[in-house]
Amino acid sequence: MQKKRLGNSDMEISTIGLGAWAIGGPGSKISWGPQDDNDSIAAIHKAIDLGVNWIDTAPAYGLGHSEEVVARALKGHSNKPYVFTKCSLLWDEAGEIHNDLSQIRQELENSLRRLQTDTIDLYQMHWPKPEEQISEAWSTMAKLQQEGKVRWIGVSNFSAAQMELVGKIAPITSNQPPYSMINRAIEAEVLPYSAVHNIGTIAYAPMHSGLLTGAMTRERIAAFPEDDFRKRAKNYQEPQITRNLAIADLLKQIGAGHNVPAGVVAIAWTQRNPAVTASIVGGRNAQQVEQIVTHSGFRLSTDELAQIDTFLAEHP
Ligand SMILES: NC(=O)c1ccc[n+]([C@@H]2O[C@H](COP(=O)([O-])OP(=O)(O)OC[C@H]3O[C@@H](n4cnc5c(N)ncnc54)[C@H](OP(=O)(O)O)[C@@H]3O)[C@@H](O)[C@H]2O)c1
Repeated sequence: MQKKRLGNSDMEISTIGLGAWAIGGPGSKISWGPQDDNDSIAAIHKAIDLGVNWIDTAPAYGLGHSEEVVARALKGHSNKPYVFTKCSLLWDEAGEIHNDLSQIRQELENSLRRLQTDTIDLYQMHWPKPEEQISEAWSTMAKLQQEGKVRWIGVSNFSAAQMELVGKIAPITSNQPPYSMINRAIEAEVLPYSAVHNIGTIAYAPMHSGLLTGAMTRERIAAFPEDDFRKRAKNYQEPQITRNLAIADLLKQIGAGHNVPAGVVAIAWTQRNPAVTASIVGGRNAQQVEQIVTHSGFRLSTDELAQIDTFLAEHP
């Protein structure tokens, strides 16, 4: 698989990384419903076999469970990928998640223990909240980097102004923003700022958490378990869902001409933008991962990109 240098780091990362949110399993307001750990481990192994060389996880995914599953999958594995994790989302005994940037050292120790490792390849501030804590929190992350506990430090969900603020304290290796045909907010400022300042972009949810895979239907949405966060997400409800499923149909149609699924077209569309270093793609089992990652080299033609852009403009 094609690889690209991530920002100012020494890491050449595959243009697709495996996202480990859904495989965190149930147990919180940001869960994706039931998940079989054996399927998750098979998904990780399949991704590595197909050339994916990094995994993105976070403590909040399954309240620690995602990091533990990643560790189980990598234990004894001869071909270890880079492991990226995050800080800033804490939870209480009832499993309620909240933003707190004051306990990063403790958070890191917990992640190292769950991931069964001595160092994190990329440590990311998951959300810039509470905003008044981000400068001090970034200084702490820079110290952790100097101490060798984390190799590189990055941000996630940051605006250009927030990157400008913390970039004066210590260099930012990467930003992790959302990017898909359904969420293009970063095109105006965040991507141009990152490109100019050599901040890598690892864009998340290119298929909008399953909505642009071609496998989403109204019936599936209606049958989502209560603890699948998508049951309540606005893009899965009217009026947005009619438009979003129409986009997925267009991607299916374009993909059919190349024998690739709609999700591959959705990912290729995000990667048409040279400011995007790589995409973070979730997969809940080996089959899903194989269907997507096998086509990591797929690129859209100029005509197809124009067709998509016209459709999006006509369906705002
Ligand atoms: N920093 C942040 O705040 C943040 C936020 C969101 C995500 N992320 C990161 O980005 C990663 C990716 O985002 P994401 O998982 O939300 O979205 P995504 O990659 O757009 O979608 C992944 C989901 O699509 C479905 N899918 C995958 N392959 C498929 C296939 N071949 N056929 C049919 N369906 C398929 C699966 O869900 P179903 O089968 O259940 O439909 C899968 O969980 C996350 O895992 C996480 O690491 C970070």
